Amino acid sequence: MSEALDLQGRHVVLGLSGGIACYKSAELVRELQRHGATVQVVMSEAAAQFITPVTMQALSNRPVFSSQWDARQHNNMAHIELSREADALLVAPASADFIAKLAQGRGDDLLSLLCLARPIDRLPLLLAPAMNREMWAHPATQRNAAQVVADGAMLLGPAAGDQACGEVGDGRMLEATELCEELVAHLQPKLLAGQRVLITAGPTFEAIDPVRGITNLSSGKMGFAIARAAAESGAEVTLVAGPVALTTPRHVRRIDVQSALQMHEAVMPLAGQHEVFVATAAVADWRVQGCSEHKLKKDGSGRVPNFEMIENPDILASVARLPKPPYCVGFAAESHDLAKHAREKRLRKGIPLIVGNLGPATFGQDHNALLLIDGQGERELPHAGKLALARELVREIAARLPKP
Ligand code: CTP
Repeated sequence: MSEALDLQGRHVVLGLSGGIACYKSAELVRELQRHGATVQVVMSEAAAQFITPVTMQALSNRPVFSSQWDARQHNNMAHIELSREADALLVAPASADFIAKLAQGRGDDLLSLLCLARPIDRLPLLLAPAMNREMWAHPATQRNAAQVVADGAMLLGPAAGDQACGEVGDGRMLEATELCEELVAHLQPKLLAGQRVLITAGPTFEAIDPVRGITNLSSGKMGFAIARAAAESGAEVTLVAGPVALTTPRHVRRIDVQSALQMHEAVMPLAGQHEVFVATAAVADWRVQGCSEHKLKKDGSGRVPNFEMIENPDILASVARLPKPPYCVGFAAESHDLAKHAREKRLRKGIPLIVGNLGPATFGQDHNALLLIDGQGERELPHAGKLALARELVREIAARLPKP
């Protein structure tokens, strides 16, 4: 999905404390740069045992700072100067020892001093723990981690999995792409904080027999982009997905379904527990009545099977008819007369906001163009990446929600 330049104009101070995960920090520099950020690397003495400052300087295209006695800053205060231009201070890897140091508010090297001297209200401190699972699970580390969070830092991970020591468990540093995604998310405005958002996405698959079925060309990309944008905005997101080959956005709860009936069954009990419902799924309008238990076989006569079709429940309209419905947003995928069809569909479904798009032009693509229609009027969101459009749609939805 296109997400380039999410960090355009952002300056990130990337701190490395000592740990084997330092090898991932080299890739992280590239990933941050790919998204448009400039990166200033600061390394602890221990980090330099795992990866050289030369590598990090070459990748970041800036001199690396390691010592609080470094005289290169004009006022000799690297611990102050380096943080003042930054939009984020990301320590990856954050070792057990480094987290312990932060928990105590100590500043005996440049990186810990930088963290301590950062403008706490303006400059977020994000820590990506990386250590052996026993070290992570140790009560002292857990206590220290809780303390640094209480003091305003944010933990990214750790993940579970294979560890360099050969053990398996919690303590792995997140991958560079995941850390970058976390940072991008952190910098988005929290317009949906405290809101629960339910989303349907993708096509449905209506079985004819155990090996065949009827489906459509929806890729699910728009719905997944909205799920990601809503989660970035601070919402608690549940995504009910038809059969698609997409990665679940971070911090999104995903429920996989196949058919329209299953999607209906998954959505209805959840809808009342959500403040917003966004129906992006291209739900099949009909299903085959009496799906065959066994594979249909040719009988040699040239006759083709006859299917009886029946209508699927309209999930969006059913949610909109609940006694206390969430704020409902529908999608209208049309092939022509977009505005007219979308307007009619909004009224027919009884929903406050509908988003029109041209189905054949957008299915499977990374880009789209949207037409938002509500009771007050219309607004076009011109051709752009689906994630950019999803973020704009989240802004539009947030602006329409009742103020708490
Ligand atoms: N939708 C739904 N359940 C269905 C059909 C559609 O929840 N059984 C939702 C879609 O997720 C979308 C909106 O309703 O948000 C419009 O879907 P669309 O298929 O474009 O419209 P239809 O109601 O099927 O109308 P038409 O067949 O006339 O295009």
